[in-house]
Amino acid sequence: MTDTWIILGATSSMARAFARKLAEEGATLYLAGRDMADLEASAGDCKARGAANAHAVLFDARKPDTFTPIIDAMGAEEGMLNAAVFVGSMPDQADIDADPSLIDGTVTDSFTGPARFLQMLAPMMEERGGGTVVGVGSVAGDRGRVGNYVYGAAKAGFHTYLSGLRNRLTRSGGHVVTVKPGFVDTAMTWGIEGMFLVASPDQVAGDLLKAVRKKKNVIYTPFFWRYIMLIIRSVPEPIFKKLSI
Ligand SMILES: NC(=O)c1ccc[n+]([C@@H]2O[C@H](COP(=O)([O-])OP(=O)(O)OC[C@H]3O[C@@H](n4cnc5c(N)ncnc54)[C@H](OP(=O)(O)O)[C@@H]3O)[C@@H](O)[C@H]2O)c1
Repeated sequence: MTDTWIILGATSSMARAFARKLAEEGATLYLAGRDMADLEASAGDCKARGAANAHAVLFDARKPDTFTPIIDAMGAEEGMLNAAVFVGSMPDQADIDADPSLIDGTVTDSFTGPARFLQMLAPMMEERGGGTVVGVGSVAGDRGRVGNYVYGAAKAGFHTYLSGLRNRLTRSGGHVVTVKPGFVDTAMTWGIEGMFLVASPDQVAGDLLKAVRKKKNVIYTPFFWRYIMLIIRSVPEPIFKKLSI
């Protein structure tokens, strides 16, 4: 019996690298997102790499009616059900400052949409007595900064949600890994200036898989972001509020 994984936000290059690694282990994959042509191509690639099966499925975090068919399909799979959430959006903070209505979509994409999906999946995981959820948050959720505080707030909400979900699922043998990446070379960060210590999507995917195997609770990827964020979190607020980092 193979493990089944749903990958939400499967067009992300981090997600793609993670799905490939799962495919090589023979998992059954549900690649979920909005770009069906891209997802179909990825599903073919995953099957060629050894996936037991790979399905492209429509998922839009802002359209909850896309969630139920996926939940139903996963319910028909045998064995443990697992989920990895890569969905997120980060509009320019300047655009959000000019149009506060952009907050809603940012929070839905990066927190409430995926959380609502996971709420629907959780009872099936509990029934089966196991499974893992990987939730990709961000170091941006560790402290609000002038440059991206709405995205950061959405990720902070998602981190807190994942912490509670971990607390819930552990009671039935399930597990939740919270992932806080630093800067990663992907579509989201394309063209952003001033990035440093940029990781590759493949490096992040490798860290994720290791964290799943070792049942880690919260990881920073690459690892040194734990120490960078420790320093950033310990800057006293009277000083921090004057910084532009
Ligand atoms: N890159 C970084 O430096 C960095 C750092 C920390 C955390 N992260 C997080 O890592 C995750 C992956 O991001 P990435 O860097 O790989 O960027 P990305 O390519 O922009 O990935 C974001 C993913 O979210 C999906 N998405 C956005 N809105 C959606 C919606 N309404 N419904 C369904 N899917 C939606 C995108 O799908 P479409 O292809 O359909 O747009 C895409 O698959 C995100 O959660 C991001 O916040 C990234």
